[in-house]
Amino acid sequence: MSNQSRINKFIALCGVCSRRAAEKLVAEGKITLNGRLLTGDDLSTIVTHDTDIVTLNGQRLTPATEKRYILLNKPRLCVTTVTDPHNRTTVIEILRRKAYSSPPLTTRIYPIGRLDFDTEGVLLLTDDGDLTHRLAHPRYEVKKVYQALIDGIFTPADGARIAEGVELEDGHIGKAQAKLLRKDGSGSIVELSLHEGHKHEVKQLLAGCGYQTLSLSRVEFAGITCEGLKPSEWRDLTTAEVKSLRKLVL
Ligand code: URA
Repeated sequence: MSNQSRINKFIALCGVCSRRAAEKLVAEGKITLNGRLLTGDDLSTIVTHDTDIVTLNGQRLTPATEKRYILLNKPRLCVTTVTDPHNRTTVIEILRRKAYSSPPLTTRIYPIGRLDFDTEGVLLLTDDGDLTHRLAHPRYEVKKVYQALIDGIFTPADGARIAEGVELEDGHIGKAQAKLLRKDGSGSIVELSLHEGHKHEVKQLLAGCGYQTLSLSRVEFAGITCEGLKPSEWRDLTTAEVKSLRKLVL
């Protein structure tokens, strides 16, 4: 990272907001540089990262130098996007609500792939665009494991059908290894392992066998599980976990 940046880029590097939104903060008189309040006339000011002191609401801003890799146990009823036009809770809001891990989340991070609004479980988020792209790409066949509660008793014939392939809404053929874990009243819990990731794929595979998915949880992504994390809790991945993700796709 260069040691000098224009003020708006510097603020964006600190994970506060986009460069454009940062210009607004400067013009609104919310930013100081070495104790001096900046104004709209200061948008071309250059900041030297190590020595200049930039503050927002009295708090010093420092650029993120290391990438961040977060594991969230996504709860149900939130969207896997950064913003939502319908004002539903986003996973980013959940991460910012409470710091379960340090340092606090100041960088702008993005989800790796998506879980539906009503799906819970393992969700990785990062500011490492290259790794995100690769882990989400079907070419690398990253393994994801789901557990679904369905409205019927899953049979070995259903498992064979899903292993053979079911046509999805987008024309792709979805496939998975699927097995009955246990019966649950008149329904059952089914575990499915997938190596691709089409929209609503698990629900569509189960619908292809005539079942409705009543609840869905992702229990594993590339070998990483939410063990020890309650819904809405999160932590940074360990160095070993990040290494193992990189090894899968780089
Ligand atoms: N498949 C689905 O149907 N929903 C998800 O959230 C993830 C996979």
